[in-house]
Amino acid sequence: MLPLLARLDRWVRRLVVSTIPPALAVWFYSQTRRWFLERLARAQPERYVPPPAAGVEYWGLRFQTPIFNAAGMFKAGRGYSVAYRQGAGAFLAGTVTLYPRRGNRKGRIVQPFLSYPRSQAASNWLGLPNPGYQYVVRQLQQFLSQPGCPRGISIAPPDELAFDEAADALVDGLFLFKNIGIDFVEINESCPNTQTDREAWDLVWKRLEIVREKFLRKRKRFVPVVVKFSNDVPLSMVADIVAKLCDLGFDGVNFGNTSTNYLLHRKRIHLREQRYYDFFVQNFGGGVSGRPLKEESLLRCLAAVEYLREHPPAHEFVVIRTGGILDAEDVAESLQRGIHLCQWYTGYFEQFAQWGHRLYQRIVEHLLSS
Ligand SMILES: Cc1cc2nc3c(=O)[nH]c(=O)nc-3n(C[C@H](O)[C@H](O)[C@H](O)COP(=O)(O)O)c2cc1C
Repeated sequence: MLPLLARLDRWVRRLVVSTIPPALAVWFYSQTRRWFLERLARAQPERYVPPPAAGVEYWGLRFQTPIFNAAGMFKAGRGYSVAYRQGAGAFLAGTVTLYPRRGNRKGRIVQPFLSYPRSQAASNWLGLPNPGYQYVVRQLQQFLSQPGCPRGISIAPPDELAFDEAADALVDGLFLFKNIGIDFVEINESCPNTQTDREAWDLVWKRLEIVREKFLRKRKRFVPVVVKFSNDVPLSMVADIVAKLCDLGFDGVNFGNTSTNYLLHRKRIHLREQRYYDFFVQNFGGGVSGRPLKEESLLRCLAAVEYLREHPPAHEFVVIRTGGILDAEDVAESLQRGIHLCQWYTGYFEQFAQWGHRLYQRIVEHLLSS
């Protein structure tokens, strides 16, 4: 049922996002996105078992394929079964914060989202909606990790608290999820994006030092922690970021999150979709995802890989690429160039519309034949 709907929508969306008024398109796709994700999280497709050669191993964890969902797809922690059965390399829940968040709303539009089908891109201004730690813990406690598909949690400091309290809430969350047996953690540090945000960067490092002191050094069971940054991070800062993360004892980096570099990405939006893009940016702003980020995520991850080659860390450090991963070729290129793992969000739905639940199978078949 869902694959059929997605396939149909692939064509309908092209029509919608070129003919109907932009406000209506945003309203419609903001509603249907949530509807679709709720159903996707409950789907029970036939299990695809990737051949062992498709798997990779990091931190002592086995990933049955080198790609899995990016944060934001299974925010509430539901959907492990569908990810595992499709053959995803892992399941990443969240981003979750201490307290529940309703997300952004403007007029009648709740959690604004719009995808641009011809551009294989999307905009969102969701505002990190999530049901809070306790709810997600209860969801994650309902199942165990299956071999080849570790469970991860994306977690962010609550921005409604003062700095110290928010950092402590983040640390509490790390222990809470570690104690229920989560396999890895991703800290969502996606905000500062220019070198001139000195103050914001200082706070990021101060927070990550607190995590080092209060969590990394105290974890008795090894739970790897990676930090996710925006794809807007200046390329010139990547080596320094990786060096600092290694020194602090973090286990990986993810480049990265959505972009607010609207002018740059506008050129990458199909002509027929630019008025929808402009409407979204002018009314909500938000983050751009999908194909426009392809080069940005690749360049940042390659800079990280290069730094690690020249300065081999004393402990295992994993580079994750997120942003504009659209198909098997993107995954193959990432792996060939030394990037360890990939995540996808916008591309996942493009591929789901074509291949339904067999989307990871398509990637594996391509990876093993190339
Ligand atoms: C609708 C939507 C919701 C998202 N929610 C989150 C989130 O909760 N936490 C997070 O770290 N990133 C979130 N992201 C960013 C994605 O995880 C990913 O980093 C970004 O979309 C770039 O990847 P892509 O080009 O494959 O979409 C979200 C993206 C979208 C489109």
